[in-house]
Formats: sequence, structure tokens, C-alpha cells
Amino acid sequence: MNQQQRQQLIKAACDVRQRAYARYSDFQVGAALLAANGKIYSGCNVENASYGLAICAEQVAVSIAVADGQQIFHGLSIASAGGVMPCGACRQVLGEFCEDLSIVIVDTNSGQEPADFGLQQLIPGRFELP
Ligand code: THU
Repeated sequence: MNQQQRQQLIKAACDVRQRAYARYSDFQVGAALLAANGKIYSGCNVENASYGLAICAEQVAVSIAVADGQQIFHGLSIASAGGVMPCGACRQVLGEFCEDLSIVIVDTNSGQEPADFGLQQLIPGRFELP
């Protein structure tokens, strides 16, 4: 992922976050995934009155990309107030498709420079079928 793509991912994650359906937690998350075809696939969290049915932004982005035929990813940006890290379930879902992945965490509250992580670093020893 080059600098221009990184900036595009950050913007896409912030944009899609505004469409989050988070009426129960009021915690909006946006995720943008750069796929091998050069396209960016965006997702936001989608909650439900049955709270446990909430879908994370990252999983929405992965699902849309896979449905469009993409399974190789070069970068992910996640935007939220506070710049939270992806949950364990999302790390596992991302790991299904990527040995490693550049992840850019954006705090929409602070004007701080987004922080970079690697998926491998965030979920070492993830579950894989033997
Ligand atoms: N959420 C995400 O979208 N991604 C994560 O990695 C963690 C949590 C959402 C789920 C729920 O709608 C809200 O944040 C509060 O947990």
C-alpha cells in the first residue's frame, strides 16, 4: 500500500463511518479495505434490537469485497471516535484471507496522525483448521 492509497483508505473509513447504524451503542465504526483489484471496499457497523446480532464494520467490508470476487487485501483502515483496535472476532475474520495486513487506525476525535499496525502482530497464533 502506498501513501496515496493509505490516504484514500483513511478517507473512505471516515466517510463510511458516518453511515453506521449504531442506534444502541452510539459507537460508529467505519472500515475500508484495499483489495488486489485496486478497489476500496467500505463497511460500517450495523446493529440490531437483538444486541448480539450487531455486525462489525470490518466484517461488513470483508463480506462486500468477497461477494465482489476479491480475496486478497493490501490494507485496511478503521475509523472510530477514540481510534479503537479491531475486536478479536474481526482479527480472526481478516486472518482467514491475509497472513498479514497493514491496518491503519484512525481516531476521528483527535487530529492525530493515524497509527499503523500489522494483523500478524494483532492475532498471533489465530485458529486454523488442522
Ligand atoms: N464494532 C466494530 O464495528 N468493530 C470492532 O472491531 C469492534 C466493535 C462495533 C460493534 C458494535 O456495533 C459497536 O462497535 C459497539 O461494540
